[in-house]
Amino acid sequence: MIFLCPFVLASLAISAVQAGSYAHDANVIELTPANFDKVVHGTNYSTIIEFYAPWCGHCKQLFPKYKKVGKVVSDLAVQVAAVDCDEQQNKQLCSQQRIEGFPTLMVFRPSKYSHDSPPPKKSLHAGEVYRGAREVKPIVDFLTSRIKNYVKKIGRPEHIGKFVAQEKTKHKNKVILFTSKSNPSPLIKTVAIDFLETLEFAFLKVKADETARINAVLNSDLDFAKSVLVVYDVVNGTYTPLTGELTKESIEKFLLDSGAKPLEGPLSKRGRYIGDVKEGKASKKASKPKSKAGKNTKSRAVNDEL
Ligand SMILES: *[C@@H]1O[C@H](CO)[C@@H](O)[C@H](O)[C@H]1NC(C)=O
Ligand SMILES: *[C@@H]1O[C@H](CO)[C@@H](O)[C@H](O)[C@H]1NC(C)=O
Repeated sequence: MIFLCPFVLASLAISAVQAGSYAHDANVIELTPANFDKVVHGTNYSTIIEFYAPWCGHCKQLFPKYKKVGKVVSDLAVQVAAVDCDEQQNKQLCSQQRIEGFPTLMVFRPSKYSHDSPPPKKSLHAGEVYRGAREVKPIVDFLTSRIKNYVKKIGRPEHIGKFVAQEKTKHKNKVILFTSKSNPSPLIKTVAIDFLETLEFAFLKVKADETARINAVLNSDLDFAKSVLVVYDVVNGTYTPLTGELTKESIEKFLLDSGAKPLEGPLSKRGRYIGDVKEGKASKKASKPKSKAGKNTKSRAVNDEL
């Protein structure tokens, strides 16, 4: 059973209630008609949007949990956003999405990008209503399951050479994650999206007896007890490992230093735009008061997540 406040009340309610607003939250993007398309559709990230009304009791209940969701996924290729359907300027946006009650959670997914058949410039992401429990974990699980995967699987150490030499991507440097996991983590999938079309990603699940065989291929002397990330340079044919803690920050910095430029994420132009939207700077509407809570809180995803 999903509890909703009826949409019709929205027009009757007195709007000045600011208590439930996400404006200037470090992890939740307040959408308006001015930024909606660029934020939601102009990305290879998935986006969850809460359509809400500040006066609605079920929205108030969700409010702290939704902020938590934003915080938990802040390192991932997922955007957490909200539309205040009580705001006059947003009413059309909410009726376009056929919002019938509050809160309604919708998830917008990009199509999988392919260099050979890029989608038309103005294509829209597919939207679906989230009908699961309105609790942090189920929402986060749903979102991470919607992150597109661009990380290939390398089955055995002997196949590393084939991956780095593949004809189709011969000009691109390669990134290989050596991990104990059987599937790529949300974090490495996110990094692959940030560097989509710039770098090629793969992972190899390291088995106990494979260390020597991997080191033979990489011409290295690495210990794979913990995850190791390696960049293969196509020009000189060498493998450079990232040593130390594997956080999103350290990985993206390492890849940037290797000469690659991300199109999304914190180190990109798009990342700066999203940061401005969160702080209310990129929005055409300038009337909301500035809040002190707008600064980005750093969150860390650590090694064992990879
Ligand atoms: C997805 O990534 C590709 C490669 O970087 C880019 O060309 C494309 O515009 C991105 N898609 C969207 C909707 O931004
Ligand atoms: C190969 O190139 C990378 C950067 O592209 C550099 O860091 C590395 O030192 C080079 N290795 C050799 C052996 O020249």
